[in-house]
Amino acid sequence: MPLLNRHLLGLQGVPREDIQLIIDTAVTFREVLERPIKRVPTLQGKTIVNLFYENSTRTRISFELAEKRLSADSINFSTSQSSVAKGESFKDTIRNIEAMKVDMVVVRHSAAGTPLYLTKICDANIINAGDGIHEHPTQALLDMYSIREKLGRIAGLKICIVGDIAHSRVAFSNIYGLKSMGAEVSVCGPSTMIPKSIQDLGVKVIYNIDEAIQENDVLNILRIQLERKAREYFPSIREYAKYFGITSERLNKNGKDILLLHPGPINRGVEISSEVADGKHQIILNQVTNGVAIRMAVLYLLGTLN
Ligand code: CP
Repeated sequence: MPLLNRHLLGLQGVPREDIQLIIDTAVTFREVLERPIKRVPTLQGKTIVNLFYENSTRTRISFELAEKRLSADSINFSTSQSSVAKGESFKDTIRNIEAMKVDMVVVRHSAAGTPLYLTKICDANIINAGDGIHEHPTQALLDMYSIREKLGRIAGLKICIVGDIAHSRVAFSNIYGLKSMGAEVSVCGPSTMIPKSIQDLGVKVIYNIDEAIQENDVLNILRIQLERKAREYFPSIREYAKYFGITSERLNKNGKDILLLHPGPINRGVEISSEVADGKHQIILNQVTNGVAIRMAVLYLLGTLN
């Protein structure tokens, strides 16, 4: 069954069947990643541009790897090595790239709405790899895949997203995706980092991290985004770590067998202690591995629609 839309701009409004299809397809590609020769001919002849206007390690490398595993031709674009550095506009840059006959564009940009704008000026399939504080759909898809792989389901689970919800594209994509899949979603963090209207999305708000640990099956722990002026929303990093940091003491005190996710990169000793980041509850590196399979699934499903 094909996806409803020829682009992946976000998970808001994406039906459960589409999310299920992407995750089920990723399971089959996950098996390819275990083979001695990790390559299938599925997207042979397709050209994909990775347009990263913002830094990335996991998303950029996993899209590149996914494209290679599917035998697509991939081109990597970074602003510092392009004519953007000479002042070429975004629109002219895209028009020139499109003139080279590309089929798909993976885009990360600090401005929310950039992937949507690309759909208006370019014929290629557009995949959002993170746009400002709007959405990061493939991160939420790989998070859901990793939860389902570990716990066998998503529907009915109690899942709490912890941290700077207001400035997190990962949080919003997770909320839309998890709600669509039937999870009970809550958020936890300082009140300054929780949007006033979050309850309109059907999400519970918890201000105490111990309560969040007690009540939930899964915590998705967000990075405190120091580069996005997160410090202005709480008195000090030490105070954030004291009241919201996930530590072994906190997990032991609450005596819970809880599953912990983190999208990375990690601030060890801030939102998560080093011991917990490497400990038995977390599946952080499984998320990264599953990220390649999820991106293969999205590229395959969109790339074979045309
Ligand atoms: N999780 C995530 O988006 O990481 P990168 O910024 O390294 O891509």
